[in-house]
Amino acid sequence: MKLSLGFPLAVLPVSIFLGAFTASAASVATAGGGTGRDSLVNCLRSSLSSASSVYLPGDSGFANDTIRWNRYYQPTFTVVAAVANEHDVRVSIICATSSKTPFLVTGPRHGFSSGWQSLTDGLEIYTGAFNQVVVDAAASTMTIGGAVPMKDVGDALQPYGKNFPVAGASCVGMVGASLGAGIGRLQGLYGLMHDSLISARLMLPNTQVIEVSQRSNPELFWGLRGAGFNFGVVLNATYRVYDAPAQGTNFNADFEFPLSSVRAFYQAMHDQIANGGLPAPLCVATGLQFNRTINATTLKANAVYAGSEAEGRRAVQFLTNIGTDLRHNFTQIPWNRLNRNVNFLNNNPLVDQCTPGGVRGDTYGVAFNTINVDAHVNMSYQFDAMFTKYPEMRSSGNGGYFCANQAVASKPAHYTSYPWREAVGHQTWGFVYPAGSNTTEADIDNIPKKLRALIAATADTRGLNTYIGFSHGDESAETIWSGEHLNRLRALKRQYDPKGLFSWYHPIPLR
Ligand SMILES: *[C@@H]1O[C@H](CO)[C@@H](O)[C@H](O)[C@H]1NC(C)=O
Ligand SMILES: *[C@@H]1O[C@H](CO)[C@@H](O)[C@H](O)[C@H]1NC(C)=O
Ligand SMILES: *[C@@H]1O[C@H](CO)[C@@H](O)[C@H](O)[C@H]1NC(C)=O
Ligand SMILES: *[C@@H]1O[C@H](CO)[C@@H](O)[C@H](O)[C@H]1NC(C)=O
Ligand SMILES: *[C@@H]1O[C@H](CO)[C@@H](O)[C@H](O)[C@H]1NC(C)=O
Ligand SMILES: *[C@@H]1O[C@H](CO)[C@@H](O)[C@H](O)[C@H]1NC(C)=O
Ligand SMILES: *[C@@H]1O[C@H](CO)[C@@H](O)[C@H](O)[C@H]1NC(C)=O
Repeated sequence: MKLSLGFPLAVLPVSIFLGAFTASAASVATAGGGTGRDSLVNCLRSSLSSASSVYLPGDSGFANDTIRWNRYYQPTFTVVAAVANEHDVRVSIICATSSKTPFLVTGPRHGFSSGWQSLTDGLEIYTGAFNQVVVDAAASTMTIGGAVPMKDVGDALQPYGKNFPVAGASCVGMVGASLGAGIGRLQGLYGLMHDSLISARLMLPNTQVIEVSQRSNPELFWGLRGAGFNFGVVLNATYRVYDAPAQGTNFNADFEFPLSSVRAFYQAMHDQIANGGLPAPLCVATGLQFNRTINATTLKANAVYAGSEAEGRRAVQFLTNIGTDLRHNFTQIPWNRLNRNVNFLNNNPLVDQCTPGGVRGDTYGVAFNTINVDAHVNMSYQFDAMFTKYPEMRSSGNGGYFCANQAVASKPAHYTSYPWREAVGHQTWGFVYPAGSNTTEADIDNIPKKLRALIAATADTRGLNTYIGFSHGDESAETIWSGEHLNRLRALKRQYDPKGLFSWYHPIPLR
């Protein structure tokens, strides 16, 4: 979610990457048969390039590079290899495997689902140096490093008059998010983030570097787009980019509704989607939160339209017509400044400051093919009742993503390994527990799983469908990829990662 919600919604996923190069025989002093931290550290220090760093607990670089956005479900590490180049990634993987140390390749570290905590005493291979964005305006492409956050993509494209379907969270890794799909603004025009992926330089688990594209390793290219974090490290990725409308500005409409208006709001959304759909340039995102100023739960709705103010006002007329908002504000905003302005944020620069470690939370998400108004209203009132019964949960929020989906749904269901292209929206929840508490779901009547079940049961889908970027971590593989895609993915996993080295986040089951 946006800054205003505890959880960055519009985004998502995981900060795991892939990378590239042709495999050269890296000269690595392996751990010499030894195991444990000393042999790992010796191996790293004698093999890494001089531009890299090795950090141990207590070093400031260790804390800087391991702190995660969600303090819940954290993996633990005994060593960090802050790598500078492809060679360093390769030798780090070799040192880890030869010393029998579990490892995680990571960048912005916004992945928040449960499961990460199963990695203990590992090596973190930190790729923050892979932060370049190179725009080729004439070709309408960009090549970005595996650790580039969304905001850097926006800032790099804006001067060229280009845009891209980035998500609404500035600090989430672009490559990590797009490996899972990448939903967000502009998807009605250009599809999922990974629908714009042209090629990736991928370091496989065996440290060979290959190019993955429609022409080169096409089956792996299919699997990369939906389950990419299972197959290695994306070092660099090249995407198509687009000409921005309205001189690089978007129309932004913010509304804040009282709880008593949630039925009118979801009915309006339902009717608009059922009667012709949202206009392709439109994305509506909601945030239901406790508003401390007025001591009541409210529903914020943010609508962004990629175009002029005149067109944008027409596109959001169905929301303006509700007429019961507590306040609204319509503005025209530079495309790369949206995140710090949506939801009445009034150009708040904190939104773009990637300061991690802020929350201890549980996230859930459900994709739906239809908006069941009764279920969304009931869910909203149950959330409000949670704030009353458990006031310590008042930093929590839930958010819906209703981005137009024309360009997503126009691709065949098997175009990539992400399966839920028909979804008209995604409902997410961010349950934020008080700092320092040990509160768990069981202490709040298991409300999270009950709300997920309520929306899933009325979603007009076959069972629970979840976009991995909004997953909790307890979902079955079928819930994430569909049974149809799972067999194909399993074959790829057996071929490229038979030892399951890249399996800390939604591993594809090998059998
Ligand atoms: C860790 O972050 C702090 C604060 O940004 C900075 O002053 C310090 O130099 C960093 N340490 C390393 C080793 O990067
Ligand atoms: C990624 O691409 C950039 C720009 O072409 C290049 O400078 C960089 O070395 C590449 N990084 C890796 C890890 O391949
Ligand atoms: C907030 O509202 C609740 C009822 O919804 C009331 O019991 C409580 O006293 C109010 N608190 C303040 C500070 O007004
Ligand atoms: C709470 O709602 C009121 C009325 O819409 C608004 O003025 C105030 O800014 C809101 N507070 C927050 C934190 O959003
Ligand atoms: C509307 O938003 C703009 C930009 O964020 C801000 O400058 C302006 O003060 C806001 N207007 C109102 C009435 O809140
Ligand atoms: C939600 O629906 C359930 C089942 O119909 C009902 O028992 C419950 O009272 C409803 N809750 C709210 C807050 O409307
Ligand atoms: C939470 O659990 C930890 C470890 O068991 C304990 O040290 C701490 O005191 C607990 N905190 C609270 C607020 O109960």
